[in-house]
Amino acid sequence: MSQDTSRNQDRIARTSLGTGGPEVGVQGLGCMGMSFAYGPTDAAEARATLERALELGVTLYDTADMYGMGENERFLAPFVSAHRDEITLATKFGIVLDPDDPAKRGVRNDRPYIRQCAEASLRRLGVDVIDLYYMHRRDVNVPIEETVGAMAELVEEGKVRQLGLSEVTGAELRAAHAEHPIAALQSEWSLFSRDVERTAVPAAADLGVAFVPYSPLGRGFLTGAFTDAGKDLTEDDFRRRMPRFTGENAEANAALLEPVRKVAGDRGITLGQTALAWVHQRAERYPGLSVVPIPGTRKRSRVEENTAATRIRLTDGELALLEPIADRVAGGRYADMAFTSAGRE
Ligand SMILES: NC(=O)c1ccc[n+]([C@@H]2O[C@H](COP(=O)([O-])OP(=O)(O)OC[C@H]3O[C@@H](n4cnc5c(N)ncnc54)[C@H](OP(=O)(O)O)[C@@H]3O)[C@@H](O)[C@H]2O)c1
Repeated sequence: MSQDTSRNQDRIARTSLGTGGPEVGVQGLGCMGMSFAYGPTDAAEARATLERALELGVTLYDTADMYGMGENERFLAPFVSAHRDEITLATKFGIVLDPDDPAKRGVRNDRPYIRQCAEASLRRLGVDVIDLYYMHRRDVNVPIEETVGAMAELVEEGKVRQLGLSEVTGAELRAAHAEHPIAALQSEWSLFSRDVERTAVPAAADLGVAFVPYSPLGRGFLTGAFTDAGKDLTEDDFRRRMPRFTGENAEANAALLEPVRKVAGDRGITLGQTALAWVHQRAERYPGLSVVPIPGTRKRSRVEENTAATRIRLTDGELALLEPIADRVAGGRYADMAFTSAGRE
């Protein structure tokens, strides 16, 4: 890779991760696919991707304890150790996988479980402190105040710097934030998934909580990579079980990319860049909201492409062309929408 490509003008801008949060690059890196969910990985290329992202000014790195049952955190540990002071490290607890059948998942938010998970993540990541610790999913049987109270103890003990939540409703975010400041809300937000605009995004903007859109590329669908998702994906790819990627839904959703193709074609940018530029610009509609999308990739060339999207400005006309897409998407973003904030709104 030539030195030229990491000159200052290629580095992304910075923003604060919520009120009083650390300063981070305006786009983070989702590391899940490096060990989990999206089929086979080239570990050497994935490691090079982490380094390339950092050269380009990406500082927020996102993992979770359940990505490969700890494997993703272990995979990140050498990178984290080499760059501990340059990065903001985010991980999560709360989704419990069945070792015999990873398709089966439960959720736990109770204090003993949280403490046990935090210790295990610290060990696997090889760090003394987690910069941003998220509750991955909400267990409705545990009051959110109790969960956040247990997370706050980790802050007091110096094991965690800041707290985050994933897939909570606006009301849940408000209740949690009243218990202890929440730095970031991470939920799915993209041209294909806009349910968070109902309550979660407005609440985050109101409270000064950063919004971290996950799957901003619609898990890859918005890049135009899937013509026939069933055939394009390997057997072990989690997306084979996702409603938007299968059968007639996949076909209908591929047709929805037409305006994205048009904008991308006219501008000489990629579909993925169009989708990412849309998320950054959509967030501007919410005054005070800091937004740090975390597109996931295991490839250097793609992290270059994705970070370059932060410098693209779509016109009002282009935004208008993209506006109707989300309402027409076929299939839920999860097979079980109870797994999302929208399932509780
Ligand atoms: N909180 C939650 O519940 C939750 C849920 C899902 C994900 N996440 C987090 O969010 C991160 C991002 O979400 P995601 O990975 O699900 O979805 P995504 O970022 O929307 O898309 C990732 C997919 O797009 C491909 N891709 C990335 N850049 C591309 C480009 N420029 N051109 C073509 N294809 C491209 C990737 O393939 P390659 O890797 O092969 O490039 C991968 O298959 C995850 O890594 C994870 O850290 C959180």
